[in-house]
Amino acid sequence: MGYHPGWKVLLSPIVPLPVPRLAWITRGATWNWDGQHKPFAEAGTDVLSIASLLPGYVSYFVADPVALKELVSSRTRFVKPIEHYGILSHFGGNIIVSEGQEWKKHRTPVQRSFSEHNNRMVWTESINVALGLFKSEEWSGREVVRINHVIDITLPMALFVIGIAGFGRRVSWAEDTVIAPGHQMTFKEAISIVTEHLVQTVLIPRWALRIVPQWRKIGIAFEEANAYMHEMIRLRREAVVKEERHDLFTGLLEATEKDPGAGNERLSDSELIGNIFVFLVAGHETTAHTLAFALGLLAIYQDEQENIYNHIKQTLSDGRLPTYEDMPKLTYPLAVLNETLRLYPPGLTFMKQSVEDTTLPLATPYKGQHEIVVPARTLFNAAIAGLHYNPKYWEDPYAFKPARFLDPNWPRDCFIPFSSGARSCIGRRFFENEAIALLTMIMSRYKVELTPEVRDRWAHLDDIVERREKIINPTVSLTLVPKALPLLFVRR
Ligand code: HEM
Repeated sequence: MGYHPGWKVLLSPIVPLPVPRLAWITRGATWNWDGQHKPFAEAGTDVLSIASLLPGYVSYFVADPVALKELVSSRTRFVKPIEHYGILSHFGGNIIVSEGQEWKKHRTPVQRSFSEHNNRMVWTESINVALGLFKSEEWSGREVVRINHVIDITLPMALFVIGIAGFGRRVSWAEDTVIAPGHQMTFKEAISIVTEHLVQTVLIPRWALRIVPQWRKIGIAFEEANAYMHEMIRLRREAVVKEERHDLFTGLLEATEKDPGAGNERLSDSELIGNIFVFLVAGHETTAHTLAFALGLLAIYQDEQENIYNHIKQTLSDGRLPTYEDMPKLTYPLAVLNETLRLYPPGLTFMKQSVEDTTLPLATPYKGQHEIVVPARTLFNAAIAGLHYNPKYWEDPYAFKPARFLDPNWPRDCFIPFSSGARSCIGRRFFENEAIALLTMIMSRYKVELTPEVRDRWAHLDDIVERREKIINPTVSLTLVPKALPLLFVRR
């Protein structure tokens, strides 16, 4: 590593261990969030080295935009080290845990399923989910609704949207009590449990889910969701009259059956299901937590809430429901979401590995060196928060200023919550449609506020960023998770 500054530790931070930071032993479980850009500023470089003994890794943690651009775009020199994502393959082979030709086999049909029709469906269904929330028992007819933890509404909203626009099955705020013949639980219950316990579903092997009593329900939910999907494949194949459907599942099934793409083999049923499952893993918490952070931020920054409200009122001046055609005009909600993703990127890192001895160019030279020397098989972790808080590229990086994303020249290479390049997030449009529609609906009808307890507790802190850090204070799990945050929704 040529004495490049960084961390030397006994236990590799790349292996996720739920432990606190201990000097020379471990950087702790929250290493890729702690201090955001501060560790880089202290070391005087935007690339830190990480050397560990157990396992013996040499890796780099990268907050430099030029180095990151090279890592994501030079696909023959830097690949995705899929062995580090291996656990996700227990859902069935899928787009996330593949590389090279195998990845192309998945990416082509998956790309087709994220079609324009699907985008429109995501929009319409998100509006329906918001209307369903406003009509639900807890909300309808109330001037003020108190939510004990903001994710109590954002997780179900994201689940209902992926239920219909992803799986083609309508799940809603209403109770679903009909268990289909041959099943032990309803479809809603099965995918609710799977998504609620994503960490366990992803990290615990399937055999353990079957036999350990505390995990059995999760294991059953996982098997049930799988069985429902096999049935859905069978029913759609057997249907004499094909319904016109635009959910991802149908799109993927059709794309696989019609034309697997030049030189590609078809996806098997287990790969088809594997991909649908990873849409849940990749898209559910990330979307729900981003919305939760956005609502929390807007409750803290009331002036920003007025800005988004006024923008929505102007865009939808006659008070009508927003249509899919309005989406490009809703620039302020998108700016609020982007600024939320900059401050709280739900996925804190992605990885790459060098295939050969090579070099990596730097935007900020270190001791006069404009590149670092990289031996083959070096691992790289993108420091997403490190880059997003880098003061060289973001003025006043700790401030919540959505308007910075309205400037046509905002620094695109320094915003990577969805990664970048060929392997960037394929669900980005899905997310944007869903989140803009939901945020627009909520903001146009409700004012979101902190509860008096939360407001009073931190009122002694004059600095708004300090106050915000106490109120939002996220924890690091599979994604960045907002702390329990009660909110009030006051009817406008
Ligand atoms: C705020 C929302 C989201 C964020 C921040 C996010 C972030 C990311 C990131 C960082 C990657 C690259 C991962 C890596 O290389 O290790 C990724 C890939 C991916 N995302 Fe998302 N994502 C979001 C929403 C979604 C949604 C809604 C879906 C699906 C419905 C989705 C599906 C995927 C898939 C399938 C990939 C793998 C693409 C490939 O390898 O070709 N994501 N996402």
